Amino acid sequence: MSSSREQFGSRLGFILAAAGSAVGIGNMVGFPVAATKNGGGAFLLIYAIFVAFICLPVMLAEMSVGRHSRKDPLGAYSTMSNNHGPWKLAGWLSIITPFMIAVFYLVITVWIFGYLFQTVTGNLTMLANPATFGSFINNYNLFYYMLAVLAIVYLILQGGVKQGIEKAAKVMMPALFIMLLGLVVFVLTLDNAFAGVKYYIIPDFSKITASVVSAALSQAFFSLSLGMGIMITYGSYLDKKSDVPGSAKMVALLDTAVAFIAGLVILPAVFSFNPNIDTSTLSDSSVGMIFTFLPKIFLALQADIGYIGASIVASLFFILVFFAAITSMVSIFEVPVSALMEEKKYSRRKALSLLGVLLVLMSMMAATSFGITDLLTNFVSYAEQQKSFFDVIIDVFYDTILPLNGFLICVFVIYRWKKAEFNKELDNGSPSYENSWFERYVNFSVGTFIPVILLLVFINTVALKYFGAALIG
Ligand code: PHE
Repeated sequence: MSSSREQFGSRLGFILAAAGSAVGIGNMVGFPVAATKNGGGAFLLIYAIFVAFICLPVMLAEMSVGRHSRKDPLGAYSTMSNNHGPWKLAGWLSIITPFMIAVFYLVITVWIFGYLFQTVTGNLTMLANPATFGSFINNYNLFYYMLAVLAIVYLILQGGVKQGIEKAAKVMMPALFIMLLGLVVFVLTLDNAFAGVKYYIIPDFSKITASVVSAALSQAFFSLSLGMGIMITYGSYLDKKSDVPGSAKMVALLDTAVAFIAGLVILPAVFSFNPNIDTSTLSDSSVGMIFTFLPKIFLALQADIGYIGASIVASLFFILVFFAAITSMVSIFEVPVSALMEEKKYSRRKALSLLGVLLVLMSMMAATSFGITDLLTNFVSYAEQQKSFFDVIIDVFYDTILPLNGFLICVFVIYRWKKAEFNKELDNGSPSYENSWFERYVNFSVGTFIPVILLLVFINTVALKYFGAALIG
């Protein structure tokens, strides 16, 4: 155990940093769209149940392993299993996964930055043209945007845990909350806004199918930044006196609240634009929603508040999503950086530079796989579908490996590290957790049905994605 390990400076700092990781592009658009299409309130209910009863226990498992070992995920799995080969492999997975997710997340963050830049410089009309997105992502200007985004991430991470990650979260997260609330208040004053709210909230249980349930779980799992080694790494920067269960509950609550409130911005805006909208025509992907649909809606606001007004609202929205994306990007990139610092005893600057170069190279490959380079655009094909390099990263790391990593941490905590140790770690700093019903529930669920469910999700995804054979959905 190294006594010089960096630490968060305060409980609030930790909660905001972890919530900053959890609140991301998934919350701002992915969640509202998924809820709207899949039964409104019925989806919200299922999602909330998954957050509380499945994701929160997994988050506790991750944070406790981090705080106990005070190491990066690879170091944690290695030391806590006495260098047992298969568990080391699980450690490797939890640093490779975030690196690869960072590759595709960076690409989307760069697009958002580009849209923000264009909106602020008065080009909302251009963005609202449906043809823009296709040419935008295949334009070499993207590399300038990428350099700008990387510089921001680099500067934050170079500051370290307290002066970098925590400070950025303490500025960006409150700003994000305020902008979000400002937008909600504005959007709710638009005509037909409440038709959108009604559509978003009134439950339609007939839409709930097995595949909707499984999509809700994946969305919740990703949204809380689980399976990526992030909560292990952030947990490792906590001191022994901090209340881990209490903080984890706050993070889950904040993340869910932001996702819910984002829906109160998007849906009223959509319905005000077109009160008779057939919601099945809304794009399935967050990407389609952010980059083609929403700019059109923002531009339509010019009838009420003029072009400048519409541009201001659109800029606020893109800054919001950009802040959400940056704090997530920072958290995910910190995982491999902290692993390299710990395992190879590199300085922060050296680890950051080395991995930064690798990240740029890989992200450039991903960014050019939408048409610029043919080899990467038509990268491979499986289950009778042609996949780009970008698609493959999403399929393999986001869809497939995340639930596997969740399964592994649960089994590790209960069966390798052992329940008593797990409880002891969480009781430390949280006397109210000790012997509580919640503790009993966490013990039982992490040792039984949660890993079973995550394993089933993993197997189902493998069957579906790579063999075209669905077990569910
Ligand atoms: N929780 C993030 C989101 O909802 C997901 C994420 C976190 C992605 C960290 C990358 C890095 O968008």
